[in-house]
Amino acid sequence: MSERIFIGVAWPYANGSLHLGHIAGAYLPADIFARYHRLKGNEVLMVSGSDQHGTPITLRAEQEGKKPQQITAIYHEEFLGCWQKLGISFDRFTTTGTQNHHQLAQHFFLTLLEKGYIYKDTMALLYCPRCRRFLPDRYVEGTCPYCHSPGVRGDQCDVCGKPLNPLDLIDPHCRICAALPEVRESEHFFLRLSAFNQELLEWVKGNTHWKQNVLNFTINLLTEGLKDRAITRDIEWGIPVPVPGFDEKRIYVWFEAVIGYLSASKEWANSVGDEQRWRDFWQGDARSYYFIGKDNIPFHTIIWPAMLMGYGGLNLPYDVPANEFLTLEGRPLSTSRNWAVWLPDYLERYDPDPLRYFLSANMPESGDTDFSWREFLRRNNDELVATYGNLVHRVLTLTYRSFEGRVPPPGELDERSKALLGKAEDALATVDGLLYRCRFREAMRTAMSLAQEANRYLDEKSPWKRMNEESATTLYTALLVISNLKTLFYPFLPFSSQKLHRLLGFEGQVEDGGWTPAELPAGQRLAPPEPLFAKLEEEIEARETAKLRGSRG
Ligand code: MF3
Ligand code: ZN
Repeated sequence: MSERIFIGVAWPYANGSLHLGHIAGAYLPADIFARYHRLKGNEVLMVSGSDQHGTPITLRAEQEGKKPQQITAIYHEEFLGCWQKLGISFDRFTTTGTQNHHQLAQHFFLTLLEKGYIYKDTMALLYCPRCRRFLPDRYVEGTCPYCHSPGVRGDQCDVCGKPLNPLDLIDPHCRICAALPEVRESEHFFLRLSAFNQELLEWVKGNTHWKQNVLNFTINLLTEGLKDRAITRDIEWGIPVPVPGFDEKRIYVWFEAVIGYLSASKEWANSVGDEQRWRDFWQGDARSYYFIGKDNIPFHTIIWPAMLMGYGGLNLPYDVPANEFLTLEGRPLSTSRNWAVWLPDYLERYDPDPLRYFLSANMPESGDTDFSWREFLRRNNDELVATYGNLVHRVLTLTYRSFEGRVPPPGELDERSKALLGKAEDALATVDGLLYRCRFREAMRTAMSLAQEANRYLDEKSPWKRMNEESATTLYTALLVISNLKTLFYPFLPFSSQKLHRLLGFEGQVEDGGWTPAELPAGQRLAPPEPLFAKLEEEIEARETAKLRGSRG
């Protein structure tokens, strides 16, 4: 029976380019998962969009002397180009700037207000006397009250991951002018998180299928007890608060950004001409998965679920398979220090699948992992090209040459050939189970070991020595295994799988074939062989590493 899978992916701030950390953290695992489920014949809705509000945007605009809209327009376009080139197959990638989103966010706000889950109160805020303005969380810097790391931002500690109130910072100062801020009263709306503490805890404890780190982190926060949080701000850029007398204030970016999952789903439904179809993915037995980096965990396992509980009638997250971080040459990626491999840069010069391969094989699923150009070259040249690419190329060229460009009719299969085909079917079952549970690295490794196994088979059989019925059988077997590899690798390496599909003489899309053992009609005409992957020159390592170090600001 077909399943319905909703996939929400973290909304990137439209204030700068994406880097490999974003891809490894959220977009690639989400895409692998989406492609896998589509291949299985399940219904998938994968959405996200540019996060256009919040101080990351205004800070950037102020630095560049531009309007926030100018910044977000540039990066939204850039994101769309990246998804296309990297093959991140969103069903809808929108922005938090749409009218639909503004209306839905305000409606959500008013619903929670009516139900008493949002209330008005005054709060003490930091005000910069020199800049003469209230300071948004991110405009304040200081020492974390929990882990005592210096120089952390007022919204969240990047070191221990705790959400912060800027007033709790030790030694706070204004990020713009470094002045010591003073405390002033301001009227705001608060989300009554405390009302959901117990319900959330019971729900989370039942989610035993969650990753250990996500589960523990969330349970800890809930056990410590939730405080109500202000969800409006003294700023100009953002979604207006739909209550008279609050014209000068805006809805807090995090409160509305998570609602984007729902507004994007509604936009998708409108785009397919069936306004109500979003319900298929938000109600009933559909399952929702949220792919995010670990810094976004509390917003997806506590705040968004609390908002959904309060609103009512919509599915809570089924899983939040948050990833850890990717480091670059052993050091944390940093946008402000320009220590990053920028995605548009990469995509201008290299193919998408080698990067997808590298990041899948090194996905920070259960701990931080590292990207280095040396490792990237090694994985491309010694694994992708030497194992999988070479297997495919050997089999295709030999068959093409020796059997007039057609799939040869096999004779009786011997035990060895049957065993290999058995392994291919086992791999389909194993990878299926692993991908179902979001175990991407292991799934990739399993697929790769089938390619290794097929290479060994080919070496043992050496069909190139003489062309007879036995070598026809060997090549037929190898072709079948390759056709299975095309399926197994498709979620990870969609471009090469599609190419292989064509080289094997098939028409249409890999996705149409489903997650089933390959079939290959004898006599099928093959396309003239071409290599699947290209070896990368060794000097790339020196060139890229120098560029990286030279670019450090
Ligand atoms: N823009 C946020 C970030 O980059 C993520 C927002 S995820 C959402 O950290 F769910 F809130 F949209
Ligand atoms: Zn200041």
